[in-house]
Amino acid sequence: MIVAANFKTNLTRKETLVYLEKLEQNIKNSNQDVYVFPATSSLVEHSGHAVVGAQNAYYVQDGAFTGEIGLVHLKEFGIDTILIGHSERRHILGESQEEVSKKFKFFKEKNFKIIYCIGEPLEIREEGEEKLLKYIESQFAGIDLDYKNLILAYEPVWAIGTGKTPTLDDIESLHKKLKQKTSAPILYGGSVKVNNVEDILKLESVDGVLVGSASLKVDDFSKMVEIAQRIED
Ligand code: 13P
Repeated sequence: MIVAANFKTNLTRKETLVYLEKLEQNIKNSNQDVYVFPATSSLVEHSGHAVVGAQNAYYVQDGAFTGEIGLVHLKEFGIDTILIGHSERRHILGESQEEVSKKFKFFKEKNFKIIYCIGEPLEIREEGEEKLLKYIESQFAGIDLDYKNLILAYEPVWAIGTGKTPTLDDIESLHKKLKQKTSAPILYGGSVKVNNVEDILKLESVDGVLVGSASLKVDDFSKMVEIAQRIED
């Protein structure tokens, strides 16, 4: 299974290095696929079981894009994994679907592993399933769902950082619909914690989890990797 940590705007470089060292000790016997996405200034060249990826980058090699980093900055650390389309980038930082799809195309051409995030805000969910599916469909515009290095992450916006999650049945039903569209592994994200990860990972159509706040403590995140391992054994 896939267990991924998104640190968002947390943990300094020093803290990230300490975290990674501890994580590697904790998961050394695991054969789960583990990813860690540190803040941009905490990106590090890492060799170990866990793969370090970028939360974001601009779709250029390099150039005049103040405040952004490009491909050269990822290559410096040997990074070839990236999150694209996270709801915080879409809704807080105003990234449009057009921008998101340009980013996808660029990093696909560079053969990156892409964790592509989708998910609906609460007002869309409240409008019913048809609207929800239509909204999700709009997040696939310009996205190649057959890309071989794709991982999809379903993260309902209203479940992120709120302690709320859809019911297990709702997660399963949506993931099943997504599975009709792609053969990529599908992660669930949004208020995944040590105490609910097992039930979520046990769902047939869930291939892993993308964890925000509960990943910030290395022992909690390691525990989730351990739970994934136990389910698979
Ligand atoms: P939380 O786990 O803090 O809800 O965040 C989920 C998320 O956005 C992971 O990308």
